Amino acid sequence: MTSRIVAVDPFDLVVFGGTGDLAHRKLFPALFRRDHDGQLTEPTRIIGVSRKDMDKKAFKAEVRQALETFVSADELEKAAVTRFLARIDYVTLDATGEAGWSDLKSKLADGLDRVRAFYLATSPDLFDAIVHNLRDHGLITPKTRVVLEKPLGKDLESAREINAAVGEVLDESQIYRIDHYLGKETVQNLLALRFANVLFEPVWDSAHVDHVQITVAEKIGVGARGGYYDTSGALRDMVQNHILQLLCLVAMEPPGELGADSLRDEKLKVLRALKPIGDAGVRTLTVRGQYRSGAVDAKSVPGYIEELGDGAASSTETFVALKAEVQTWRWAGVPFYLRTGKRLPSQVSEIVIQFREVPLSIFGAAGGFLAPNRLVIRLQPDEGVKLYLMIKDPGPGGLRFREVPLNLSFADTFKVRNPDAYERLLMDVIRGSQALFMRRDEVEAAWMWADPILEAWSRLGQPPASYTAGTWGPSAAVALIERDGRTWHEDPS
Ligand code: BG6
Repeated sequence: MTSRIVAVDPFDLVVFGGTGDLAHRKLFPALFRRDHDGQLTEPTRIIGVSRKDMDKKAFKAEVRQALETFVSADELEKAAVTRFLARIDYVTLDATGEAGWSDLKSKLADGLDRVRAFYLATSPDLFDAIVHNLRDHGLITPKTRVVLEKPLGKDLESAREINAAVGEVLDESQIYRIDHYLGKETVQNLLALRFANVLFEPVWDSAHVDHVQITVAEKIGVGARGGYYDTSGALRDMVQNHILQLLCLVAMEPPGELGADSLRDEKLKVLRALKPIGDAGVRTLTVRGQYRSGAVDAKSVPGYIEELGDGAASSTETFVALKAEVQTWRWAGVPFYLRTGKRLPSQVSEIVIQFREVPLSIFGAAGGFLAPNRLVIRLQPDEGVKLYLMIKDPGPGGLRFREVPLNLSFADTFKVRNPDAYERLLMDVIRGSQALFMRRDEVEAAWMWADPILEAWSRLGQPPASYTAGTWGPSAAVALIERDGRTWHEDPS
């Protein structure tokens, strides 16, 4: 099976933070792949912007190096690399000052009719200055779109400030707040699973679902990102955005159609229905952890504090587990167990829908335990969907049962490379499709839920529980779910 490529009209994309980690690791590889597959048309241009004083030639060498590091060698056909590098340009610019803006303007001058996208892959402190400078230098055209990378603030107040500042210059229809989890293939498949099939929707409620688990586990530590991460922590970095977005897609009502606002209206209702966790709940419903040295894949790794490297203590959490609740008729009483962490034993992101037990076993003791059905939606790695069913053990010997997964592995079913989330989302920006981007009210509603947790943690003043790198977080995270008579899902196969 081959994927369908629909070419996009020529565009100009300006990447602020063009020499940064995200641009190297994600944006240039994603754009290269779209170009390689024939989606970019002439005379599309990609202009890197940063404070660094360098010329176009040096920047192209940097982009080439990024491709060689983050794109597999077999994808790097010479002609495709040459064509892609020919699109690249560079401007040295001071985001908060005057230098460089007129250079940028003159480079863009002949592209007034094209889609013009500005990707702000910078610290959010600069968003205000950048968008105002874009306006003051006459760079905003009717076809301008601005992409805002996360984090969108560090709490509700700062998110509101960013949104207000950006809103002074741009209309909401021009603002693309990216959450790259929404661009992941399997996340979109969740929509297909729920709304393109009749099977699941009738049982997608508290009458049939016992609980939901969402796990986003990473093996990596904070590495060179310690400076940012230490001001953030797992709740701000992963839960407030990625995990809540996944929760929304699981819990939302079917939108009337797939227009950007219909989808986002439904997600917003879920965010607003999240039961607040404040001082009273924080001790029993949340667990914070921080990794100490240990081993991942049998390789010794340093602890968080050592990785930060400044010798200072830190009470930033690198792991969080939570029991959340969505207060709607559909979900009342169904716990949503959420967990994420760095330096865990495996790299896995999945959503588990645990159904209830059958109301009565007609098979008696000899049949054994009838494990309730479980739907596992695996985002990464090995994207796919598994539905665990009870079946009869083959052969004679009476009715004995075994739990077996119906396994839909996307890699085995579709022999195509799974595009990276940024490939899809960047093309959505160019096409003007906002469905997979967060609206202002969504971001603020997510902070409204996260803020009281952060405040309660800080009032409590308790440091995060330490866990050994390469384990599944502090033991309290296991207790969080086990005291409810449930366990975290472990893939038995
Ligand atoms: C980012 C976080 O948003 O998502 C990182 O800032 C995290 O800390 C990353 O590592 C995880 O993304 P993915 O696509 O690798 O699961």
